Amino acid sequence: MQVFREKDALKQAIRKVKSEGKTLGLVPTMGALHEGHISLVRNALIETDQVVVSIFVNPTQFDNSDDLEKYPRTPEKDLALLEAETKDLWVFLPSASELYGNEVLSEKFDFEGLEQVMEGKFRNGHFDGVGTVVKRLFETVRPDKAFFGEKDYQQLQIIRKLTRLKELNVEIIGCPILREESGLARSSRNERLSSENRKEAAFIYHTLLKARELFGTKSVKEITDWVKKSFDKHPTLELEYFEIADSETLKKTEHKIKGNQYRAFIAAYIEGIRLIDNIALDN
Ligand code: PAJ
Repeated sequence: MQVFREKDALKQAIRKVKSEGKTLGLVPTMGALHEGHISLVRNALIETDQVVVSIFVNPTQFDNSDDLEKYPRTPEKDLALLEAETKDLWVFLPSASELYGNEVLSEKFDFEGLEQVMEGKFRNGHFDGVGTVVKRLFETVRPDKAFFGEKDYQQLQIIRKLTRLKELNVEIIGCPILREESGLARSSRNERLSSENRKEAAFIYHTLLKARELFGTKSVKEITDWVKKSFDKHPTLELEYFEIADSETLKKTEHKIKGNQYRAFIAAYIEGIRLIDNIALDN
């Protein structure tokens, strides 16, 4: 496994594999790797000849400096986990100045409304930060395909929009959400939960499953009311939002239209830790 800390060294290695006609896959991460990240790496290994995993805790996507400071950083464990997967991986581990230069600032994007709902409403400037770093990573690596999890479905849609708006020549591959046995979506934040609350947090997924079941027979309002009531009754989980939205535009759905694709989204707090999840609905 090769670890690159400098853009130039990585670019040089990339030029060589490209000149051999090989395809390049990129898996952007912020480290603290878990099985969810590894599932993206496995998809990338199947679909492309040379895989680059980037590990970079991106300061510009945090609206809160405390959150940025507390973000887990486990580079040695991450490298060991990747090495155990295959020795052929390349890991890009840049510093902030290597990626941003002297000014660690976000570019401003217009994602045509995608950034204004759900996570965008609750996390100021978050998607400008994500767009900035992903665009820089794409410009550095120039991957044929880049892999993102449906766990952050809004982010995935925004990256798709980014590539279209900026005419970036990369195919975006969305990968399914990997879950713990209980159904809880895998996340580095799960490590911060007590074992009791980790079990309780599976309630989020079970509520999404029930919402999917109800979607066949009940109205969006009835489902939303039911979800809110269920969370009100729950002793430890606090709902931030529940939304049923169009899978493409992420616009909140009032009435479903036959043929359109929808998803249900939840953000909730447990023990002060914020968790998100979503599910595709059948229509
Ligand atoms: P991070 O939270 O580290 O996630 C990296 C990738 O792993 C994202 O595409 C995310 O959706 C995916 N992922 C996380 N948990 C998953 C799960 N349980 N199942 C499937 N995929 C999962 O998302 C980011 O980093 C950053 O915003 C980034 C895109 C790297 C830009 O800084």
